[in-house]
Amino acid sequence: MPNLFDAIRIKINAYDTKKNGLRLEESVIMAKMMNAMGFDGIEISRGIFEDNFSTIRGNAPLDVILDDWDIYQKKNALYRFGPRRFGQKIVNPLPFSQAYNLQTAKAIKAAVTIPVFLVGGMTVPRTIHQAIEQGDADYISLSRAIIADANFPNKIRNGRTGPSRYVHCNLCMAYATRRPLRCYHGKRLNAGSWM
Ligand SMILES: Cc1cc2nc3c(=O)[nH]c(=O)nc-3n(C[C@H](O)[C@H](O)[C@H](O)COP(=O)(O)O)c2cc1C
Ligand code: SF4
Repeated sequence: MPNLFDAIRIKINAYDTKKNGLRLEESVIMAKMMNAMGFDGIEISRGIFEDNFSTIRGNAPLDVILDDWDIYQKKNALYRFGPRRFGQKIVNPLPFSQAYNLQTAKAIKAAVTIPVFLVGGMTVPRTIHQAIEQGDADYISLSRAIIADANFPNKIRNGRTGPSRYVHCNLCMAYATRRPLRCYHGKRLNAGSWM
């Protein structure tokens, strides 16, 4: 009889930069506890929404978020003026870089025996091959690379070396609350459009 936990993996924010936020040393302890609890694998992400877009990095499409997200639509124009005008300065999004959770995953992998899944910023096959070959992670999770190009894993399997069709615009995430999940590839929709 298979153990229910055989099918269950857990994704964590391994650290963030908030003053009283989570630190990697704490996550390593947490990961060991999850290992002991019987989870089948652990996916290493980082950051929370308030942490400079660190979970996804790249562009922060605040204009779309302010227009599309229910929580902001209910705010009045004056409230929305501040984030619209100064939002980029306040959020100050972290620049995109390849495999930005690699070092964190590596640290946690050294502390656990269950498979470690690395997520975040992998758009180039070489980065993915290296992470696995060097033993920094056991598996790779992809989000935006396959939103941009659903065939990307097959392309890697077939030896393609080119990057995923990808511009870090983060519009897929900004539009995701009210619209179909797809790659917008840097193109904003016309206001009111549901395409
Ligand atoms: C449209 C979209 C929706 C997401 N929704 C979630 C979510 O519900 N829970 C979560 O933990 N992460 C969510 N993420 C974050 C991804 O799972 C992933 O950690 C992040 O995008 C970094 O991976 P990537 O560089 O391969 O996109 C979402 C990302 C995108 C782009
Ligand atoms: S909309 Fe497309 S290009 Fe933009 S971040 Fe999402 S997947 Fe990448």
